[in-house]
Amino acid sequence: MPKVTLIKDGKVTTVEFEKGKLPYEHHGLPESFLDVAMNFNIPLEHACGGSCACTTCHLYIREGEENLSEPEDKELDRLDTAWDLRTNSRLGCQAVISGDVVVEFPMYTRNYVQEGGAIQLGKSDTRDEEKKTAEAQP
Ligand code: FES
Repeated sequence: MPKVTLIKDGKVTTVEFEKGKLPYEHHGLPESFLDVAMNFNIPLEHACGGSCACTTCHLYIREGEENLSEPEDKELDRLDTAWDLRTNSRLGCQAVISGDVVVEFPMYTRNYVQEGGAIQLGKSDTRDEEKKTAEAQP
C-alpha cells in the first residue's frame, strides 16, 4: 500500500491507498498525486482538470522519485513553464504513484486562468529562508 505524504506550508498530511482500489473520477492519470489527493479531499490545484495543460498541480518530490512513473515529453514540456522549476519537479496529475513518496507544494503556481498569473500556495519559500539564514551567519 503506497504511503503518500504531502507537505504544504509545513503541514504534513499522509494517506495510504491500495493499488487498483481508488475510485477513479478522471482527476489526472489514475493513481497520480491529483487522483489520490481528490480521493482523500486534499486540496491540490488543477486548473486544467488534470489534462497536462497547466502547471497548477506542480509539486516537488522530496523522497520516493523511484516510486513514480517516468515523466513523458508532454509533462516535461509543460513543466518548463512552471514557476520555480527544480530538478525534482513533477506535475501532480501526471506522476503516477507506485510506492511511498513525499512531496512538497511550491510556494506559487502559475494559473493563467486567474487574473495576475499566479497564486500563492505557501507562506514562504524555504530556499529564501535558508538564504537569509546563511547571509546572517558571520
Ligand atoms: S492539473 Fe493542469 S497540468 Fe496538472
